[in-house]
Amino acid sequence: MADTNESDETEGGPLEATGPALTLRPIGHIRSGKAAKFAARHQPDEREPEENFLELAPGRNFEAALADLAGFERVWLLWWFHRNAGWRPQVIPPRGPQRRRGVFATRSPHRPNALGLTPVRLLGIEGRVLRLGACDLVEGTPVFDIKPYVPSYDSFPGARAGWIDEVDAWEAAPPAFAVKVLPQAEEQAAWLRAGWGVDFLGRATELLGRDPSPHRTRRIRRTEAGFEIGCGAWRALFTVDAAAARVEVTGLGPAYPRRFLEREGAEDIVDRAAQRAFLDRWPESELPLKARRGSD
Ligand SMILES: C[S@@+](CC[C@H](N)C(=O)[O-])C[C@H]1O[C@@H](n2cnc3c(N)ncnc32)[C@H](O)[C@@H]1O
Repeated sequence: MADTNESDETEGGPLEATGPALTLRPIGHIRSGKAAKFAARHQPDEREPEENFLELAPGRNFEAALADLAGFERVWLLWWFHRNAGWRPQVIPPRGPQRRRGVFATRSPHRPNALGLTPVRLLGIEGRVLRLGACDLVEGTPVFDIKPYVPSYDSFPGARAGWIDEVDAWEAAPPAFAVKVLPQAEEQAAWLRAGWGVDFLGRATELLGRDPSPHRTRRIRRTEAGFEIGCGAWRALFTVDAAAARVEVTGLGPAYPRRFLEREGAEDIVDRAAQRAFLDRWPESELPLKARRGSD
């Protein structure tokens, strides 16, 4: 599926210079219930009560390998961005101004080796299953390794964090825009939550409150009637009154036009059934075919 998390102008070079490929085999897979990449935070958000599961593979004696781990409050997960293809030397991170950064100075998924690294709270271990707190991995992500998080080894709270320090300071400031959700968008959001368990409005309003200006990685773009922000398999339409620092979310809609949703091979489009049902209920929300972009 098309990925729109990062810019795609610069491609990685040939791999030959770095020697033969090495093989890794997953020890297990994550069950996080997060189907769309948009649903997974950029880093785990521990303010959210969340339970995720890492199910280790049977038949490899992993039960024994888990001995003594329960005493650790947190573990590192090393994993694979399996929903990505390719890498880019420079990417536009979703946080902060629309600016390219060297991929090694980011936590972007678009790396020469698509390895993810996430510290997660360890809530319990039952057999081969680890019960975990908040995580930023989508459903089914392959995990290569688990290591205990050791504060005396792994934590350097005063260390400089380059451009991320600047973005943190910017995000800590109160939202620059007041975001109002108009009745039509409220109704659509409630319908999606109640019938399909789909909920992206909170995240979208948080992003818009900070900065609603067009941004490639945040998938904010100008449309004929105003603006839209891409939210995984969905989009939210909005208008901006810059002088009054006000954003109004006017409506929601699927990221795919009906023709895409109904064609053969579209079965794995995230929230496909919910998108079709939404178009039945609000046909006017259909994205014009020419404007179709990747949605996850
Ligand atoms: C910015 S990365 C950071 C991951 C990790 N904490 C790290 O620093 O390496 C997190 C994002 O990766 C994306 N993601 C999660 N699981 C993925 C997967 N299996 N394949 C591709 N992208 C994934 C989600 O969009 C999530 O918001």
